[in-house]
Formats: sequence, structure tokens, C-alpha cells
Amino acid sequence: MVELLPSILSADFARLADEVAAAERGGGTVIHVDVMDGHFVPNITLGPPVVKSLRKATNLPLDCHLMIENANEYIPAFADAGANWIGVHYEACPHLHRTIELILNHGLKPGVVINPATRVEVLLEILPMLHHVLVMSVNPGFGGQKFIDFSLNKIRRLAEIREELGLRFRIEVDGGVAHDTIAQVVQAGAELLVAGNAVFGSGKAEQNARELLAAAKAAAGIAV
Ligand code: DX5
Ligand code: ZN
Repeated sequence: MVELLPSILSADFARLADEVAAAERGGGTVIHVDVMDGHFVPNITLGPPVVKSLRKATNLPLDCHLMIENANEYIPAFADAGANWIGVHYEACPHLHRTIELILNHGLKPGVVINPATRVEVLLEILPMLHHVLVMSVNPGFGGQKFIDFSLNKIRRLAEIREELGLRFRIEVDGGVAHDTIAQVVQAGAELLVAGNAVFGSGKAEQNARELLAAAKAAAGIAV
């Protein structure tokens, strides 16, 4: 089942509750929250206090995408703040199994995120523990970048591996997902579709979300 995950990175942070409400009216079902530390990625965004405020503003699940070093130190604070899903980067977690166990022990849904240059096969052993795998289709750090085409092969490969191994993790894609790319990512096998600029970039979040979701469902062969 395809779902749209509006990424608040491109929202107006001074009107965050309104922006999230508009994206929800447009059909967004999970809110994607980009956490950046200025070390793992060259940008700084937000931390647990903003997640805590978002938690009060919406009942939708909060998908926290941690683009940070030392994730283990901060996972308890994101759990306390009201996060539901936590995605950590393969490239930033030297003890990935321990990190996934930590997320599970806090009662949250764990995911692993891979950068464009990271191959999906590095996740083989950890896949049975995961709720989702997030394929970055841009280099993380900024919204509004161009979709990297070879990400489609990675999505297809992940879908094949899931089938071969009989697993249930969900396939998420993030970066450059917009009106011109959303059908391709759905056809490749992605079902959790993160979109920042395409939802919030032009100040019409509700309408943008509705149109993106309709395009995604059409590509998935679901009546809209
Ligand atoms: C980038 C973030 C994305 C970002 C995507 O590092 O992880 O979630 O918001 O933005 P768009 O959809 O504009 O590429
Ligand atoms: Zn993200």
C-alpha cells in the first residue's frame, strides 16, 4: 500500500502545526522528520523539542530520519519526545545491530537508511529486524535536490531480496520524489514515499499532497 510521507524539512517552521495539518488533509499518513547534526551531514535542523511539539500537533506517526553521529545517545530522547519510527544511517552506525536493538527496546519501529553510494546487500543480516529500509535517492542534507536515477535499481533489488527471503520490511524512498519521479519509484517497488519540496515548496501543501498521492496510487494500480 503506497503512503505519502510529507517531509517537514521544506515546511515553514514558524507555522509547523498548520503545515502538517494541511499535508494531512491532502492525504499524508506519516510525518517525516529530518534530524541533522552538522557533522554526519552539512546542515543542522531540529531535535527532540520540536518532535515533542509535533507530537502535540498531530496524531499521525512521526518518522524520525536521524542524520546524526552517535545516534545511540539520542534515541531515548526521541522516544520520550514521541517519535514512532526511527531510521538510522548505515554509514553513521558502526554497531548497527546494537542501535536497532535500542530502538526496539524503546518500543519504536526501526529502520535503516542507506546513502546513494551504499549497496543494499550490506543490510542482508539486519533486514529481518527492520520495519523499514529507506533508500536515499539524493545525498542527505538538503531538500529540493535532483533524484538520482540509479536509486530505482536499488529499490528493485530490495524488493527482490524481500521476496526471496520472505521478509516484511517496508521500502521507503527519500529525495527528489516529486510529480515527475513518483510513478517510477512506485513501479520500482517503493511504498513509503517521502516528499519535502514537492509538498511544501510552493505553499499549497494540501493540494500538492493530494496530487502526489493520486499519481502514486495511479502508478500502483489503485483506483483513486
Ligand atoms: C534530505 C532529507 C529529505 C528531504 C527531501 O536529506 O532526508 O527528507 O526533505 O526533500 P525533497 O523531497 O525536497 O528532495
Ligand atoms: Zn529524510
